Amino acid sequence: MKIGILGVGHIGKTLSRKLGAAGHDVKVANSRGPETIDPTVLATGARAVPAAEAVQGVDVVILSIPLNRIPDIAPLLTNVPTETVVIDTSNYYPARDSEIAAIEAGRVESLWAAEQLGRSIVKAWNAIGSDSFALKGTPAGTPGRIAIPVAADDDSERAVGMALVEDTGFDGFDAGPLAQSWRQQPGAPAYCTDLTRDEMPAALASAEAARLPKRRDLAVAAIVERLGDGTTNPGSEYGVRLSRALYM
Ligand SMILES: NC(=O)c1ccc[n+]([C@@H]2O[C@H](COP(=O)([O-])OP(=O)(O)OC[C@H]3O[C@@H](n4cnc5c(N)ncnc54)[C@H](OP(=O)(O)O)[C@@H]3O)[C@@H](O)[C@H]2O)c1
Repeated sequence: MKIGILGVGHIGKTLSRKLGAAGHDVKVANSRGPETIDPTVLATGARAVPAAEAVQGVDVVILSIPLNRIPDIAPLLTNVPTETVVIDTSNYYPARDSEIAAIEAGRVESLWAAEQLGRSIVKAWNAIGSDSFALKGTPAGTPGRIAIPVAADDDSERAVGMALVEDTGFDGFDAGPLAQSWRQQPGAPAYCTDLTRDEMPAALASAEAARLPKRRDLAVAAIVERLGDGTTNPGSEYGVRLSRALYM
């Protein structure tokens, strides 16, 4: 498939490498221009382009940017055909994103993102830590393969998201419509806990909406205390141990 990725940070750089390695035709962009993109992001064939170019002439656009930047890039998608599938990896962290009143009031994060963009989206790759995503992918059928929940309102768009998750080395798990995707938001049992396909249904079902923000913020506080800032991502071993202790 032809894929355009906006964002080459912790998650976007791994998406670029994995989807290029899987044989997809990948373009990537950031906010500062193609010349600022680390060449290792392009090691499997992706091309660095300006953001406006990354979203044109592709089958799939993947947004891997901070959630509060989504309104900024919405104009780029205005002329993108409705057949182009838009997949969003974002999560809401108020310490990073500033408080967003609608989400603080309980709006599901993916529904808020879709509203900003004025189009349907798929929510995928949001519920795996960056280190697990980079290091723990395995071929389909591998015992204990980690699953990643994929939510969307359109069945065919969700199927595209699940197939691409498979191409990145993880089981794509059908997590239903966007309205249910709060069950894979930060603080939920399925969030960054590296569960298998068999473990995923119970984890999604046991999420308690009112507890998620408090648990999310406890995790951020623990990571900041340990790593010293809010931008360094924890390694997989600690990150998963912490997430399982707090969220499950
Ligand atoms: N880190 C994780 O473990 C993790 C896991 C799952 C999901 N997520 C979510 O996935 C999203 C990306 O996370 P991340 O950790 O990869 O972020 P990150 O490391 O901070 O990288 C953000 C990327 O977005 C780009 N960007 C920002 N504004 C942009 C714009 N207006 N146009 C084009 N590109 C823009 C940045 O480019 P510049 O540097 O040029 O501004 C950068 O390449 C977030 O919503 C996050 O919550 C993160």
